[in-house]
Amino acid sequence: MPTLSLIIAGRMLPSLLLLLLLTCSSSAAAANNSSPAIFLSVCVDTQTQNAQAFDVNFVDAMEKIYQNVTTSGFATSSSGSNLTVYGLGQCFNYLSPVNCQLCYSQSRVKLPHCLPSTAGRIYLDGCFLEYADKNVSSHAVDSADAYACGNTTVDKSLQLQFVNRTSDLVISLSMAYQEKEYYQVGSVQVSPDLTVYGMAQCWRSLNASGCRNCLEKGRDNILDRCFPSMEAKAMNAGCFLRYSTEPFYLHETVNDSGSHWSSAKRSVIIAVTTILGALIVVGLVLLWKKRGSAFSYSEGVSARNKKFMKSIIKSHLSYKYDDLCKATSNFSQNNKLGQGGFGAVYKWLHGS
Ligand SMILES: *[C@@H]1O[C@H](CO)[C@@H](O)[C@H](O)[C@H]1NC(C)=O
Ligand SMILES: *[C@@H]1O[C@H](CO)[C@@H](O)[C@H](O)[C@H]1NC(C)=O
Ligand SMILES: *[C@@H]1O[C@H](CO)[C@@H](O)[C@H](O)[C@H]1NC(C)=O
Ligand SMILES: *[C@@H]1O[C@H](CO)[C@@H](O)[C@H](O)[C@H]1NC(C)=O
Ligand SMILES: *[C@@H]1O[C@H](CO)[C@@H](O)[C@H](O)[C@H]1NC(C)=O
Ligand SMILES: *[C@@H]1O[C@H](CO)[C@@H](O)[C@H](O)[C@H]1NC(C)=O
Ligand SMILES: *[C@@H]1O[C@H](CO)[C@@H](O)[C@H](O)[C@H]1NC(C)=O
Ligand SMILES: *[C@@H]1O[C@H](CO)[C@@H](O)[C@H](O)[C@H]1NC(C)=O
Repeated sequence: MPTLSLIIAGRMLPSLLLLLLLTCSSSAAAANNSSPAIFLSVCVDTQTQNAQAFDVNFVDAMEKIYQNVTTSGFATSSSGSNLTVYGLGQCFNYLSPVNCQLCYSQSRVKLPHCLPSTAGRIYLDGCFLEYADKNVSSHAVDSADAYACGNTTVDKSLQLQFVNRTSDLVISLSMAYQEKEYYQVGSVQVSPDLTVYGMAQCWRSLNASGCRNCLEKGRDNILDRCFPSMEAKAMNAGCFLRYSTEPFYLHETVNDSGSHWSSAKRSVIIAVTTILGALIVVGLVLLWKKRGSAFSYSEGVSARNKKFMKSIIKSHLSYKYDDLCKATSNFSQNNKLGQGGFGAVYKWLHGS
């Protein structure tokens, strides 16, 4: 019986990964628009001295965020006493819990592209995620702050009216520091056919004056540089501010069945990832048992592996199917540690 499990464990895992890779290409096309768009991602230039230990803390910090961000829309975390990694996740308040979870999963899969940088952040259509080697949860503005103006502009005949109305909208949104959870949406009608929608959100870890600084910087960048674009975003260390002629924050709340993640697709994704997740966990446990009894490890390696195991077993493994695909195939291309959770798992499976 133990021998049988060994064989299963040894053979199942590589085949599972292979299966995942083989089926990725076909499903990637079908699941094209199922992920929220990435607006911006920023990685700092400095790199960590010890990527392997930093990665372990990164995975753990992200897992802690996952546990809270989907229930309350916001979470901070820290992991490790040496090479500490701090994390912060914030869903924009208009996202439903399910869409917050999907947005978090997408940002979680993308953010490891910054490793082994000591800090990175990513803004998606619906959420924000960052990690750093310092506690940055109260940082409101910094030198990496950015803004983006859309390419298309409003028709000339409407521009004066558009600038007047949209300025008022952006100015009123920048007062979101006075609101509950630092969040505000609003819209203004420019003409019968043109409405502008806007949203402001600070991360909940800021105090009101930090939120105010952040939103006012974003407001000024948009007012000074983006008119008469039909779309503008300010993406700062502690907040996000956006206007658009698209009703972007209504997609989520008006109609659940009308949201771009159909419930049928969602069920399939959840079923597939649950099964895969269960298989992987079973396989890892078997493999762990095998390794534990067959070899004697040095103290350091064994402790590190235990830590991986712990975070894997605790993990819900509820990534979207195509995210899992991308993460896995990204890894196989690069074949190096530093892609975050999946890279770490893969590396562990195949020894160092
Ligand atoms: C996927 O989206 C891209 C742009 O986001 C588009 O160019 C491409 O045609 C889409 N593919 C499918 C299969 O829908
Ligand atoms: C999650 O939130 C609860 C209460 O809001 C808090 O007590 C707990 O420490 C948080 N957990 C994590 C991992 O952030
Ligand atoms: C980060 O700093 C804030 C205050 O600036 C503090 O409230 C919070 O507890 C700190 N987080 C950690 C994980 O130390
Ligand atoms: C912390 O990490 C550094 C660099 O990896 C190492 O030199 C140092 O000994 C570690 N300190 C502790 C207390 O583990
Ligand atoms: C708000 O937070 C910032 C950064 O942590 C701090 O410098 C400032 O004193 C705080 N302001 C108030 C009114 O607490
Ligand atoms: C906007 O314009 C830039 C440069 O002119 C171009 O690279 C980019 O693809 C355009 N974006 C869209 C969404 O059209
Ligand atoms: C827009 O126009 C109204 C009246 O025409 C004026 O009171 C308001 O100050 C204008 N807003 C801006 C931002 O110029
Ligand atoms: C919401 O969905 C229902 C049916 O699924 C549809 O009849 C209704 O028009 C939709 N409402 C909006 C505002 O799209």
